[in-house]
Amino acid sequence: MTIEEKLIAGVQEAVKSLYGVEATAQQVQLQKTRDEFEGHLTVVVFPFVKAARKSPEMVGEEIGKYLVEKVGDVVAKYNVVKGFLNLVISDAPWITLLNSINADEKFGFTSVTDQSPLVMIEYSSPNTNKPLHLGHVRNNLLGSALARIVEANGNKVVKTNIVNDRGIHICKSMLAWLKWGNGETPESSGKKGDHLIGDYYVAFDKHYREEVKQLVAQGMDEEKAKQEAPLIKEAHEMLVKWEKNDPEVRALWKKMNEWVYAGFDETYKMMGVSFDKIYYESDTYLEGKEKVVEGLEKGLFYRREDGSVWADLTAEGLDEKLLLRSDGTSVYMTQDIGTAKLRFQDFPIDKMIYVVGNEQNYHFQVLSILLDKLGFKWGKDLVHFSYGMVELPNGKMKSREGTVVDADDLMETMIADAYEASKERVKQTAMPEEEAREVARKVGLGALKYFILKVDARKNMLFNPEESIDFNGNTGPFIQYTYARIASILRKAKEQGIDIPTELSTVNCQLSTKETELIQKLNQFPAAVRQAGTDYSPSGICNYCYELTKAFNQFYHDFTILGEQDEDLKLFRLSLAKATSKVISLGMGLLGIEMPERM
Ligand code: ARG
Repeated sequence: MTIEEKLIAGVQEAVKSLYGVEATAQQVQLQKTRDEFEGHLTVVVFPFVKAARKSPEMVGEEIGKYLVEKVGDVVAKYNVVKGFLNLVISDAPWITLLNSINADEKFGFTSVTDQSPLVMIEYSSPNTNKPLHLGHVRNNLLGSALARIVEANGNKVVKTNIVNDRGIHICKSMLAWLKWGNGETPESSGKKGDHLIGDYYVAFDKHYREEVKQLVAQGMDEEKAKQEAPLIKEAHEMLVKWEKNDPEVRALWKKMNEWVYAGFDETYKMMGVSFDKIYYESDTYLEGKEKVVEGLEKGLFYRREDGSVWADLTAEGLDEKLLLRSDGTSVYMTQDIGTAKLRFQDFPIDKMIYVVGNEQNYHFQVLSILLDKLGFKWGKDLVHFSYGMVELPNGKMKSREGTVVDADDLMETMIADAYEASKERVKQTAMPEEEAREVARKVGLGALKYFILKVDARKNMLFNPEESIDFNGNTGPFIQYTYARIASILRKAKEQGIDIPTELSTVNCQLSTKETELIQKLNQFPAAVRQAGTDYSPSGICNYCYELTKAFNQFYHDFTILGEQDEDLKLFRLSLAKATSKVISLGMGLLGIEMPERM
C-alpha cells in the first residue's frame, strides 16, 4: 500500500469508529500540505463535519489523534488549521518509498506482454522532392516521443512512415536534373542527396515561373499559362511515363529517390528517430485503387458520368469526396486507403495514430469515415494527432531558398551554438575535445527537442534558439545540467569509496519537507507517464521533468550531500539524488533527449 492508500484507509476507519458512518475513498481528499504549515499531506475534514455534528476543528483533532494512535507507522504528528488536518508523515514510509523507486530500473513503465494492444504510430511521412524542414522536426519529435510514451504505458508499438515517393512533385525534380544537372550526383557535388534533389525542385520552380511570366506577357491568361508552360507539360508527360512503367523514367526515379533516402537517413539518425516499417506510396496507391473499386462494387461509393469515383459523405455532415479521377488516376486519399490496407495486412492493428499537421484535419476526418465504411475495425477510432505550425523568429536561419528552415541546418546550428556556449567551461574543466563535442551534440539537440515538445502540440509556436539553450528556466539544458550535477556528486561519492545501497535501512532523523517533497515528486512519475499516455501529451512529460528538476534544486540549495556529517543521512541524500537522476533520465528518455554525464 502507498502512503496515500494507508492514509485514506485510516481516515475511513476513523470516521467509522468515531462517527459511525461509512466514508467512501473518494470522500477522503488528500492534498499536499501548503508550504506555510507543518506537514506533508493534508486531509480535508469538511465532508465529515455533518455526520460528526462537531466543528471542523474538533473533527480534525479527533481524526488526527486517531491516526497517530492507529496508523502510527505512517503518521508521526498532526496539526489542525481550520478544517484542514495537516499530517506529518514519519520517516519510515518515506524510506520504504524511496527504496521501492530505486529498486525498479524501469520505474513508472508498464511492461509490454503478448496480450498488450498493438498501436501503430505514423510520423514523418515526407515527400521525396525536398529535404526535411522545421515542420518535419516538430512532427518527428512528437511522433517518436509519442511512440515511447505509448510503449511505456504497456502497448506494443509499431513506428511507421509513409513516404510519398511518386507524383508530379518528384517528376519536377527529375526533369530539372535531366535538363540542367549535367549528371551531378551527391558524390560529385558533395551535397546530401535530399538537398541535391531539393535544389533541382527549386530550379524547376524558378524556370517554370519564368515561362509562365513570359506567356502572360504574350497575352495569355495566368491560369492557362500555368497549364500550358512547356515545363509543366513535360513533367506531366514524365508522370504518365512513370505510371506506364517506362524503364528509363523508372530507373531515374529510383536512382534519385535512393539519393533522397540516404539523405533522410542521415537526418533521422542525427535527430534520433527511427521506424519499424516504412511504406512507400508507389507500393500502396494501386492497392488503394483496388479498394476503391471494391467499395464501388459494394455500393459504398458511386461513379459520376465522367467516370470519376466519389464518396458521398453528406449524411455524415461532410461533403462529397473524390477518390479516383475520371482518367482513373488516384488522388492523395486513394493512397491512404491503400496504405491502410497494407498496414493492416502486416500487423493486427488495434489503434492507429497519424501524426500529421493540422492543415490536414479534414483529410483525416474523411479518411476515418472511409476506412470505417471499408471495414477497418480501427478506422472509426483512428487518432489524427494534429499539431500546429512552428516557425522561427523573423529573419533567423532561413534556408537557401529563403522560404523554409532546413532540418539539417537547424540541428547543426543548435549543436554549434551549444559548443560555443560551453567553450569557457570546457577550458576550465579541461574536458577532452571529443567529449566536449559529444556534450554539445546532446545539449544542442536537447535544447531543440525540449523547447518544441514542451509546447502543447495543438498550438502554433515560435522556436526561439537562444531561449531554448538558456541554462536557466524551463529548458532542456537546465534539466541536463541538473542531471550532470547529480552525476558529478555520485562520481565523487564513488571516489570516496561510498557505496550507495539500493535498499536503505531506516534513517533516524526527521526528514525535512524539501526531502520528502522530492520523494513525493519522484513518486508522481508513474502517474505522469500514465497521464501523458492517455492525453497523448509529450508536453506533460516535459512539465513533470521540469517540476522534478526544480524540486531537486530546491533540496540541493538547502542541504549539503557529501558534506553531511551524519553517515545515515548522507547515504539517504545520495540515494535520493540517485533516484532523481534515474527518473530524470527515464523521463527525458521518453522525449528522446540524452543526458550528459558532465557539462
Ligand atoms: N507526405 C504528406 C505531406 O507532406 C504527408 C503524409 C501524411 N500521412 C498520411 N498518411 N497521409 O503532406
